[in-house]
Amino acid sequence: MKVRIERLPTGVEGFDELIQGGIPRGFFVAVVGEPGTGKSIFCIHFIAEGIREGDKNIYVTTEESRESIIRQAAQFGFDFERAIDEGKLVIIDALMGGRDDPWSLHELTPEALVEKVIEAKKYLGRGRARLVVDSMSAFWLDKPAMARKYSYYVKRVLYRWDFTALLVAQYAVTTSLGFGFGVEHVADGIIRFRKAVVGGTLRRYVIVEKMRQTQHDLRMHEIEILDGVGMRVKRPTPYRKEDFALPKSVVDRILEAELRRRREILGGEEGETIL
Ligand SMILES: Nc1ncnc2c1ncn2[C@@H]1O[C@H](COP(=O)(O)OP(=O)(O)OP(=O)(O)O)[C@@H](O)[C@H]1O
Ligand SMILES: [Mg+2]
Repeated sequence: MKVRIERLPTGVEGFDELIQGGIPRGFFVAVVGEPGTGKSIFCIHFIAEGIREGDKNIYVTTEESRESIIRQAAQFGFDFERAIDEGKLVIIDALMGGRDDPWSLHELTPEALVEKVIEAKKYLGRGRARLVVDSMSAFWLDKPAMARKYSYYVKRVLYRWDFTALLVAQYAVTTSLGFGFGVEHVADGIIRFRKAVVGGTLRRYVIVEKMRQTQHDLRMHEIEILDGVGMRVKRPTPYRKEDFALPKSVVDRILEAELRRRREILGGEEGETIL
């Protein structure tokens, strides 16, 4: 039986083909990757496409100011300022927002987040909506063990509001692999961005690791980010271990951090047995 699923195009050239045309409506998708791999730019495209399609759009920014997101979008030809003025977009600023700014978040708690997001949704009105939280990691910076619980809470509460959501999680190899795990566990899909220096040049890639109800492409694709254009998916790339291999000292530190995280979650020795 052929089941028709409504899908939201991401607006990233070449990406929607990897996921049968777009992200299923209502999905909560984790967007994960190291710094500078293109996560925020991917999210900006997703919102710009929402504006184009007449969706209600909310972008929560914790790492950059609202102005920074607006400027970045403008570099690719998207007028976010106008969309805000026209009541099509709310950017919730959790970094710089002043006390008199109604769309700012003063507390980095999941409760404050969902409350503000629902307020923004009510302001924008009924109908299909797109939500970006960039990033979720900011909400559990000092308590990584809460990542999964917080992610689940956010999904459970916001589920009823007709959002299709991108939840960004950062990975920093030097701190811990664990930063994104919470989001990934509760997500309906996982889009992972990667980077590697190949022959002395930085290259960026994307791979769809999970997309429920979708026959998604299983290959890693190279991407490019161009001024005036934005992100584009290029060709599939063969996975070469040497492009991604980390020095042993870094791997050891990552494993150590992961072990600490699991002990924190599971308590005592139990964490070690499943590593
Ligand atoms: N106008 C532009 N033209 C070309 N490349 C750009 C432009 N603006 C940004 N970039 C590239 O995109 C990168 C930033 O991408 P992005 O902000 O999406 O990363 P990120 O994965 O969100 O990182 P972080 O985790 O640090 O927030 C820059 O480092 C730069 O290489
Ligand atoms: Mg970012």
